[in-house]
Amino acid sequence: MPVIMPIYGTRPEAIKMAPIVEALKDSETFECVVTVTGQHRAMLDQVNELFGIVPDHDLNIIQQRQSLNSIMTKTIDGLDRLFDSSKPDAVIVQGDTTTSTAAAIAAFYHGIPVVHVEAGLRSGNLLSPFPEEANRKITSQIASLHLAPTSTSKANLLAENIAEEDIAVTGNTVIDALLETVEKQVPFTDPQLEELAASGKRILLVTTHRRENQGDAMRGVGRALARIADSEPGLAIVLPVHKNPAVREAVLPAIEGKSNVIVTEPLAYGQFTRLLALSHIVLTDSGGVQEEAPSLGKPVLVMRENTERPEAVFAGTVSLIGTDERRIFDEVIRLLHSESQFEAMANAVNPYGDGSAAQRTIAALECLLGLGERLPDFGLPTSE
Ligand code: UD1
Ligand code: UDP
Repeated sequence: MPVIMPIYGTRPEAIKMAPIVEALKDSETFECVVTVTGQHRAMLDQVNELFGIVPDHDLNIIQQRQSLNSIMTKTIDGLDRLFDSSKPDAVIVQGDTTTSTAAAIAAFYHGIPVVHVEAGLRSGNLLSPFPEEANRKITSQIASLHLAPTSTSKANLLAENIAEEDIAVTGNTVIDALLETVEKQVPFTDPQLEELAASGKRILLVTTHRRENQGDAMRGVGRALARIADSEPGLAIVLPVHKNPAVREAVLPAIEGKSNVIVTEPLAYGQFTRLLALSHIVLTDSGGVQEEAPSLGKPVLVMRENTERPEAVFAGTVSLIGTDERRIFDEVIRLLHSESQFEAMANAVNPYGDGSAAQRTIAALECLLGLGERLPDFGLPTSE
């Protein structure tokens, strides 16, 4: 039985890989061997635990305030040894983290086919997001199979001369994970959040972590949140704060002591999706949250200058507002007070997937290894 090795290391990869791991474990065609790098620790383990995934191999590479080169070299070194002793028939990497690109390089050097999930996202700016735009472009150069979430991402790959027969459009597996998880309505472990859910207050859900926003821009985000909290005392701002100390140092000082701001540790995925569903507006620089919130009809203000996920911007649910402190304040206040703008943005749209991305992934994998046929691409009509 061919051995397939999903390799991942951070929270978003774990969430987006979980439906694939579940499908591989159910498959009668493949044996699934899960390897994690441990680029994240607590935030990675939280996801694996939720989905009941026990990794077969764990490189445990994390260091406090780790450098990109340390993630890259430790991952390649760890996988080099692993592939010397046991070689899978294919590896699956997800997205654009340094774990995913390092794993793709390590596999490529061992002659192992690389399957790239969430292929073809492009912002068009090598420095934003940094280093993700470079990471995903590198992986595209060495992957054998490119699983594009949307037809836009497929078009990006075609424009870079990736062969059409090596691309399948699957939808994003984050929608599979979201749909499976959000309906469970899990309890919050933090009593403040249970109280908030019962209060019916309007919630502004905030997440921030992007490397290029750390420092001045993120300090500005903190100040903007403090101003919003002061001018909207009836609003609850909830910030599940990333584990990265650089994020905490930048964003937390300005909002400390504000009675209508709740700062929590990273929420387990089930709790986060419930909070997302309860929220009024989402303010974020996250990639995954940009994909999930439109599915639940939540207006999203994205604290970035560009996005590699233009689909929900076209649909009107996502707006790019940058990281200027005053602009963040103005945009949030406007959306809170303009019913027409809110109604225009609060549309449930699903440009990123239909919940069957993992199934399409398994079929494309079977096709790659000569064991079956692909399914029709996501977004194409399946019957006449
Ligand atoms: C990483 C990815 C980014 C992704 C993000 C998702 C890279 C270069 N960056 O960025 O693409 O969007 O994850 O969150 O691959 N830490 C902990 N415990 C954890 C997680 C992080 O202590 O569970 C701390 C550590 O001090 C670590 C730091 O956060 O050194 C930064 O983590 P790192 O993975 O390097 O960068 P992220 O900003 O999380
Ligand atoms: N998420 C979570 N708990 C939190 C914050 C986010 O489970 O406290 C989930 C969120 O639903 C999304 C993913 O984490 O699926 C996004 O991760 P992150 O923002 O860290 O990375 P990005 O998507 O920007 O790479």
